[in-house]
Amino acid sequence: MELKGMYVADERRYDQSARMYQRCGRSGVLLPKVSLGFWHNFGGVDPYERSRAITHYAFDHGITHFDLANNYGPPYGSAEETMGRLMDDDFRPYRDELFIASKAGYDMWPGPYGEWGSRKYLMASLDQSLKRMHLDYVDLFYSHRYDPETPLEETLQALVDIVKAGKALYVGISRWPLEALKFADAYLRSRDVPLLIYQGKLNMLDREPMEDGVLDYCQEHGIGFIAFSPLAQGLLTDRYLNGIPSDSRMAREHFLKKEALTPQLLEYLHQLKEEADRRGETIAQQALRWILDQQGVTSVLVGASSVEQLKTNLSVI
Ligand SMILES: NC(=O)c1ccc[n+]([C@@H]2O[C@H](COP(=O)([O-])OP(=O)(O)OC[C@H]3O[C@@H](n4cnc5c(N)ncnc54)[C@H](OP(=O)(O)O)[C@@H]3O)[C@@H](O)[C@H]2O)c1
Repeated sequence: MELKGMYVADERRYDQSARMYQRCGRSGVLLPKVSLGFWHNFGGVDPYERSRAITHYAFDHGITHFDLANNYGPPYGSAEETMGRLMDDDFRPYRDELFIASKAGYDMWPGPYGEWGSRKYLMASLDQSLKRMHLDYVDLFYSHRYDPETPLEETLQALVDIVKAGKALYVGISRWPLEALKFADAYLRSRDVPLLIYQGKLNMLDREPMEDGVLDYCQEHGIGFIAFSPLAQGLLTDRYLNGIPSDSRMAREHFLKKEALTPQLLEYLHQLKEEADRRGETIAQQALRWILDQQGVTSVLVGASSVEQLKTNLSVI
């Protein structure tokens, strides 16, 4: 019997497989070229039905990779709780078709064991994440940031042990400097838990992973690369061309500051808009395509506050 309101994924969701997926480094994992991030728009403050509609649209169109972290919300932890609710309501039958990531590194709970890179923090945080998401394991667990105080061996061995304990299938690192990335690659490889992926900020306005050698290193060493904030949190869209809309990230939160919208940036955005118009595209499409054209990029990790935005973003594939 079909339950009213029960989600049934679109049976054509893999019809575009040939152009949708890319191999993640030299691994067995294929990731969609566009993945969905839960940093914003999936917290306890956001309408559940909107978050739900975005994930349905994503999965119905072959986006199998959802990216979370312990402190995504707000409040902290609530994006993972939304994921748990989505698992119960809709996605449990599709668990093996999903590639779900979480992370630990930033402040999550008070006291000395609630952030950074200790074994104590990483182990406890992942256990909490699994409970919130109603999952037995995550597909991918990241160290969310480089910790200059904790010995890298401690952080990396915790990642190895997490995989050996069956709580994560693969591991990744995010925002680690190049030298630490090299160390992590060698350490993890020698323990038979190769580094699957590096998560770094890459967009037309911020090219650090290209400039500091991280992207090249990943490509040369068979490590995938996933680009976060590919639209510079919405700057690289038509959102701010004529002021700051009241429902935008810039109007709502402190992560995207009004000062970012300088006259120079606005001028650049208007130029991009002209180019995009000539090609019959949007700025967002142009910005995402630019990243996907870079050698070594596996996926762009977009955020979306509506199904409409995700639809535009997905159309670059
Ligand atoms: N590893 C890390 O340290 C780290 C850091 C940051 C992010 N991340 C990951 O990366 C994911 C994406 O980051 P992000 O949210 O900054 O990505 P983004 O794609 O650069 O920005 C997303 C925001 O841009 C706007 N937008 C998206 N598509 C649009 C479109 N087609 N037209 C107009 N506006 C559009 C929306 O803002 P409005 O809300 O204004 O509509 C949306 O919330 C996160 O969810 C998270 O998973 C990781």
